[in-house]
Amino acid sequence: MKLALASLLASSASAFGPSTSPPSAHARKPLRGFWKLNPQTKEEALTFASGIASAITDSTPDVDVALFVPYVFIESTMSVVGGKLSVGAEGVVPHSSGAYTGGISTSMIKSVGVDWVLAGHSERREIFGETDYYINAQCLKILDEGMSVMLCIGESLAEFEADLAGSVCATQLKKGLKGVRKEDLDRVAIAYEPVWAIGTGEVATPEIAQSVHAKCRDILAGMYDQETANMIRILYGGSVTPDSIDDLMAMPDIDGALVGGASLDIKNFGMNWVKS
Ligand code: PGA
Repeated sequence: MKLALASLLASSASAFGPSTSPPSAHARKPLRGFWKLNPQTKEEALTFASGIASAITDSTPDVDVALFVPYVFIESTMSVVGGKLSVGAEGVVPHSSGAYTGGISTSMIKSVGVDWVLAGHSERREIFGETDYYINAQCLKILDEGMSVMLCIGESLAEFEADLAGSVCATQLKKGLKGVRKEDLDRVAIAYEPVWAIGTGEVATPEIAQSVHAKCRDILAGMYDQETANMIRILYGGSVTPDSIDDLMAMPDIDGALVGGASLDIKNFGMNWVKS
């Protein structure tokens, strides 16, 4: 079972405060998401979360770190990170109550202190059949509950090879954020995760990632306005490692990373991922 660990250092409100900054390099406060760490037990999850938290010190650059964890580990993870990280959930059902056996609602996870929830990961889309319509309902429910959502988008290999990355992301953004009010966008982050890069070792080049991120920002500007689009953080995910993260983060429209497999290297995880 994959463990999705992710988080936020500062409060989401200050982290996402309105900005009039031009879209220069990292006008947006960098957000680092860490996830799919795969520990199989609570003990391993807690060891890992403690290690990440201890790597964040007063001299750590001002980045937000989020740990998205399976429901069963949320509260115990919160108890060991000492408020240095924000602990999020890997998903929700878009229903408040009723006959949805096995589902976890937004009010349930909010009641244990969760601020952030993932939606739209390609594995949820592919394996669990979550559609853009369903993902949109999740986003709206998460925002209605007062929490923040990280909406994952990205094209398949066939779509990438057919030069359809931009149009796929446009569709997923427009459908995923349908009905999301402009005033709620300070609680939205986007994760561009090309499916062909997830878990494959085939990290997108900084130039490819930057190009799609810039397109995503243009799409958001069209959906809302440029100032709003400039404020929204767009993370890259897909085979990011300590070797590739700095070049990715040097790109003007890449505001953070969602890290899966590489974050299993606990020794490297802390300092190498939060250093810049
Ligand atoms: P990966 O996973 O870093 O193992 O490619 C990324 C993701 O699925 O978000």
